[in-house]
Amino acid sequence: MDPFVTLSSGQRMPLVGLGTWKSAPGQVKQAVLAALDCGYRHIDCAAAYGNEEEVGGALALRVGPGKELSREDVFVTSKLWNTKHHLEDVEEACRTSLAHLGLSYLDLYLIHWPMAFQRGKELMPRRGDGSVCYSDTHYRDTWLAMERLVDEGLVRAIGLSNFNARQVDDIISMARYKPAVNQVECHPYLSQANLLSHCWAVGVCVTAYSPLGSGDRPWALADEPRLLEDPRLGAIAQKYRKTAAQVVLRWHVQRGVVCIPKSVTPSRIEQNMQVFDFCLSEEDMKQIQSFDRNERFIVPTVERDGQRVWRDAEHPHFPF
Ligand code: A2P
Repeated sequence: MDPFVTLSSGQRMPLVGLGTWKSAPGQVKQAVLAALDCGYRHIDCAAAYGNEEEVGGALALRVGPGKELSREDVFVTSKLWNTKHHLEDVEEACRTSLAHLGLSYLDLYLIHWPMAFQRGKELMPRRGDGSVCYSDTHYRDTWLAMERLVDEGLVRAIGLSNFNARQVDDIISMARYKPAVNQVECHPYLSQANLLSHCWAVGVCVTAYSPLGSGDRPWALADEPRLLEDPRLGAIAQKYRKTAAQVVLRWHVQRGVVCIPKSVTPSRIEQNMQVFDFCLSEEDMKQIQSFDRNERFIVPTVERDGQRVWRDAEHPHFPF
């Protein structure tokens, strides 16, 4: 199996990359080094993760003239945060990520979410009552500024994250450069069958974030279902002499979805790349597909009138 997908931009993107969301400073550098040393050639980053400088520190040790890898060998993605959607802020935000990562260009730059927050330095601008301050910048305007980054050679491709099918179409209807990728939450409990078919039909590649169900997300509740502990996965894993994580990652890549498992544990980082030496039967692929329960883990909630509600649900560009 070819461990790459070809994007509409013509670039080849490795099907498995290292995720860095939730990887704490102090841990992420050695995680990136471990990944590069065991064959990863794709690192997924974002300004909002607060660790791009440390990721850059690892890249500097392995990538570049006189190092083991040349810049062209590695596919690096970053994302524009919600406070930087304004046309005048996009280039500076991109240049900041480049400076932190120590790179002269990104392979892929994504709009992290379709909702824009109030401009400024604060990651989560909030009012006194704790609610988020939005701005009315439309993601279509942000896209125009993203396209300029391609013209200027700062990024090789641009794309979206957390956009629904209608929003993907909205961008395509006005784009000079089509979005190469839509990166969304996807795992066996949220298989995203409709969104995947739609994106593929319009030539947009899909990357799965939280491909293993993000058991370490900060707001996980004690009684939530834990994907990697699902006994049905355990049974399949035993059959192939693989781990539950490897079975899940193989399911992703076998259906043509790029995945970016996060780990800061060297043995798991290595294990997560070993998914190209076995093949799930059609029956097992279907069985894993049947685990879908439309379970979205990555929607931070807030308490309102004694009830937990989705934080951004009232925003006109909220995608879900
Ligand atoms: P850790 O970073 O401590 O190794 P996701 O990519 O879906 O966000 O999932 C990340 C979570 O899954 C982290 O808690 C990570 O732990 C854990 N994880 C990553 N790879 C494996 C693996 N092969 N087996 C078990 N847990 C894993």
